[in-house]
Amino acid sequence: AYDAGPFVPARAKLPGLRKAAADCRGCPLHAPATQTVFGAGDADARVVLIGEQPGDQEDRKGHPFVGPAGHVLTRALDEAGIDPDKTYVTNAVKHFKFEHVPERGKRRIHKPPSLREMGACKPWLAAELALIEPEVLVALGATAGKALLGSSFRVTKQRGLLLPCPAIGAYETAGDCLVATIHPSAVLRADDREAAFAGLVSDLRVAAEALS
Ligand code: URA
Repeated sequence: AYDAGPFVPARAKLPGLRKAAADCRGCPLHAPATQTVFGAGDADARVVLIGEQPGDQEDRKGHPFVGPAGHVLTRALDEAGIDPDKTYVTNAVKHFKFEHVPERGKRRIHKPPSLREMGACKPWLAAELALIEPEVLVALGATAGKALLGSSFRVTKQRGLLLPCPAIGAYETAGDCLVATIHPSAVLRADDREAAFAGLVSDLRVAAEALS
């Protein structure tokens, strides 16, 4: 079975996890990808943002949310009153999954990860969350929502609500801790970008208000 679990070192801190994740072979996505893109940011963050998987630029640079979606996210956090420098950002899946389509030449086209791949990668997310112990989790988009809440998750129905905290490995917080919203890249694809951005900000404000 696909499983990152055997690659996750016990008792490691975030730098140790990041180093070990570079050699993860828990699913086949490591082979075509350039490198593992581990989470990054404030190890004491009260808010952790969880995306789907690294994109093309993240895969090349080895850092999450450094491409166009990352710029949208940073602006939205600022506007929602969350200091981006005090957050930790990571992804449900830590390798870029892509395909080549003939009519698009050399471009690597993003493919959504499967439930199996998300399940395989979950021990990394669990280890990150167990160390950081954030008060609030933000799921960015449908894939992150499904990775945290299961395949019945619907971002259109559940976005912008403070939801019960899911147990993710050793990470478990009593009460409500999870806010889901659209993926920042959906803002870039929207017909009305301004409205989509405002929606993202308004969901992030729910996360900001959940911080006691
Ligand atoms: N999209 C994601 O979901 N994660 C990233 O790191 C970049 C883009």
